[in-house]
Amino acid sequence: MIIAIDGPAGSGKSTIAREVAKRLGMRYLDTGAMYRTITLLALEAGLVPESLPAAAALAAATPLRFEARSDDLTRVFVGEREVTDEIRGRVVSQHVSAVSAEPGVRTVLSQKQREEAARGDVVLEGRDIGTVVVPGADVKVFLTASIEERARRRRLQLEAQGIAQPLDELVADIAARDAHDSGRAVAPLRKAEDAVEIDTTGMSIEQVIGVVSALAEEKRAAAVLAVTRPAAEAPPGKWPISRLVRSPLDNWLYRLAYGIIPPLCRVAFRMKIVGVEHFPPTGAVVVACNHRSNLDPFFLGSACPREIHFMAKAELWKFKPVGWLVSMVGTFPVNRGEADRRAVKRALEILSGGAILGLFPEGHRQRERELGDIRPGVTLFSLREGVVTIPVVLENTDQVVRNHFLRLPRVVVRFGPPLEVPHRHLPHAERALVASERLVEAMGNLLHASAESS
Ligand code: DC
Repeated sequence: MIIAIDGPAGSGKSTIAREVAKRLGMRYLDTGAMYRTITLLALEAGLVPESLPAAAALAAATPLRFEARSDDLTRVFVGEREVTDEIRGRVVSQHVSAVSAEPGVRTVLSQKQREEAARGDVVLEGRDIGTVVVPGADVKVFLTASIEERARRRRLQLEAQGIAQPLDELVADIAARDAHDSGRAVAPLRKAEDAVEIDTTGMSIEQVIGVVSALAEEKRAAAVLAVTRPAAEAPPGKWPISRLVRSPLDNWLYRLAYGIIPPLCRVAFRMKIVGVEHFPPTGAVVVACNHRSNLDPFFLGSACPREIHFMAKAELWKFKPVGWLVSMVGTFPVNRGEADRRAVKRALEILSGGAILGLFPEGHRQRERELGDIRPGVTLFSLREGVVTIPVVLENTDQVVRNHFLRLPRVVVRFGPPLEVPHRHLPHAERALVASERLVEAMGNLLHASAESS
């Protein structure tokens, strides 16, 4: 997968691209840093401004190397020399537009960028990625923001590096760079026709990351569906999953397991179930639950009035008996951190079969009481199938194992009202954003209600 993120200076590209790459397990390429590095070298070689065409040969001969750094910035090296901080200085910033307008420089660097893209799974960030460098990118995003907002962001960035610069100076610098980048003859800054434009003014970084990640995950799922979606829908009333997900044992085992476990849980854990009336008696539903313990599926499954098919981490299947048992009760594996086609396919089949899909949108168990990061991809299933999501919060399930089953805590299962699918007329990116915001808010409210009642 290749993600192209373009936009003017200060629109948040670097932060967004870096974080999206981290979350989706992809590489990240800051193409602006490449232009900045060549600008620094061209300045040192005295090529600016008279001998700019010679900078192309310089670019071709320069061995550039990038290294991820644990704090935010990517480290940039020319051979063994590190130029990470130098290329962000004011002098380079003032001349980089002129150097990057040089056609020869662009040809050389665009080629290097295409070679990087050809290695796959990368987020490229720049000005012309979606239009010139990789017009065939899987996801194209064009970020914008008001000039004042961009100047404010740049100031914060510079301050973090110990550089102070007045806001009006930054506004002027950015305006000059905008004019230069958009007005140049070769590869001017413009939105690709098929790019999704996101105005980030007033949006939090987390929100923008949510939209971009959702676009990427949607694309991954679309690729899966193109290959796997059955040509004809299953006949009404018949579950297309029956052959794939469930086994002949499934029904009685599920009923047996969940016929015995719930009454036992209710007694042993004085289990309290709140809001179960929110559960639709029929039809496909996504159930999104917080995650504190490996026992969560049992508690949720036993509190839920209908059978849930959980998507669970593939590691559970490493120990064969456990894998066998959980498969028997309709749980299916997902390999986290990759585009797991089979898991996506099963999840969508479960929903199109009118059944219930159970997800733990935080991805991993959380130690804190608060909600962890919600992975935006979880809203994809409800959006794709047009089904409601029931938010659920479990309380105290983490205490069970921590207390070695000795002092049994009171487990509470709190269901929230169903979350409708955002309106179809909204652009896709916005639907994904609205859906994940609604989910975060609803789960947050349920946790809050839990905290108040405990
Ligand atoms: O993203 P940045 O501000 O670090 O980029 C520095 C300059 O490089 C910017 O003024 C435009 C130029 N650039 C470009 O022309 N094409 C790219 N793909 C990336 C950056």
